[in-house]
Amino acid sequence: MQIFPSINYGYSSYDPSSDIPDLQGKVILVTGANSGIGFKTAEVLASKGAKVYLGARDESRGKAAAQTIRDSISGLPSAGSVHWLPLDLSTPQSTKAGASAFLSLENRLDVLIHNAGMQVKGYSTVSEGGLTFSKIMSTNHLGSFVLTQELMPVLKRTAEEPNSDVRIIVVASKLHLRVPERPDFRNLEGWNVRKDHGVIESGIRYSITKLANVLFTRELQSRLDAEKVPITCISLHPGLVSTEGPKNAVKTGIFALLIKLVLAAFALTPLQGAYTTLFAATSPKIKAEPAKYKGSYLQPFNRLAEVSAYGKDKQLAEDLWACSEEVAEICMKEADSEPRS
Ligand SMILES: NC(=O)c1ccc[n+]([C@@H]2O[C@H](COP(=O)([O-])OP(=O)(O)OC[C@H]3O[C@@H](n4cnc5c(N)ncnc54)[C@H](OP(=O)(O)O)[C@@H]3O)[C@@H](O)[C@H]2O)c1
Repeated sequence: MQIFPSINYGYSSYDPSSDIPDLQGKVILVTGANSGIGFKTAEVLASKGAKVYLGARDESRGKAAAQTIRDSISGLPSAGSVHWLPLDLSTPQSTKAGASAFLSLENRLDVLIHNAGMQVKGYSTVSEGGLTFSKIMSTNHLGSFVLTQELMPVLKRTAEEPNSDVRIIVVASKLHLRVPERPDFRNLEGWNVRKDHGVIESGIRYSITKLANVLFTRELQSRLDAEKVPITCISLHPGLVSTEGPKNAVKTGIFALLIKLVLAAFALTPLQGAYTTLFAATSPKIKAEPAKYKGSYLQPFNRLAEVSAYGKDKQLAEDLWACSEEVAEICMKEADSEPRS
């Protein structure tokens, strides 16, 4: 139910069927695509001709979502295809396994869409390589970092092809603006702060991961530009969207009720919530004006917006990058040294 769907963001006249060009020949990977915004993103991209890899960690949910999309696009003259890719972003090793599965199937990747994200009340951790760190930071940031590193060779190869237009899109959030103090991303102690299980602290923890998304995108763009690699990186806020994400964030009590009411009154549908991602991933305007869009941050559905002061903090971005590299390396070394059966 949407009571005031158009109040939020001056909701637009975006029409995927006419605004998205023919995507035949393009290979696109969408993470966390078995539900919500990611599912609708994958569905629209496949309906416009792309070969879409639907990243999902659960086999039955992933296969069911892929089949639903196949059914919905069958018969469309423009239809592409959709394939479930097992992809669990919760640790570097599981992320690397998903990337390897992709690389065993494909030798091109035109668009990588980092959409997966968790939004939960409570503090939880993952352990790998002898390290223990915040699960939400691992899933929402480190998973995207490792997946990008692992797929960078194929992205770069695709970018070298004539007329290519390779993009890396990161679904962040406007909540990155709500980080109350400068985080310390230099080491895992800094990643693991705010262990309180309460709603407010959980919300701040989520916001910090979304700030990490913004910083990662900008730093990635600046590194690719320095190497003169023609890949466009964009982070975005999809709008307030009625999906399982915010609904599951808090399941009981007054906050749960409040979230339900706000979603009912103001939220976009999952399809509308996919529009900003779809614009970022496919609009010819972005290829036509690289200086305007490279490293940018979008709000629904095509508006360039300012990131927070922390989002522009180059030192913070470099700290995050260095720590992510170090953590990923330690976690993956453990996998590489494990005896193979
Ligand atoms: N909805 C909003 O108002 C809103 C606003 C701002 C930003 N966002 C962002 O939009 C993105 C999509 O969220 P949504 O609203 O569409 O929520 P959603 O329906 O809950 O989708 C989240 C997706 O991420 C997947 N995921 C979670 N943990 C994962 C893991 N360890 N490995 C792989 N996939 C994992 C989920 O898979 P499972 O089904 O297996 O859990 C699900 O497919 C998120 O990054 C979120 O932060 C949403």
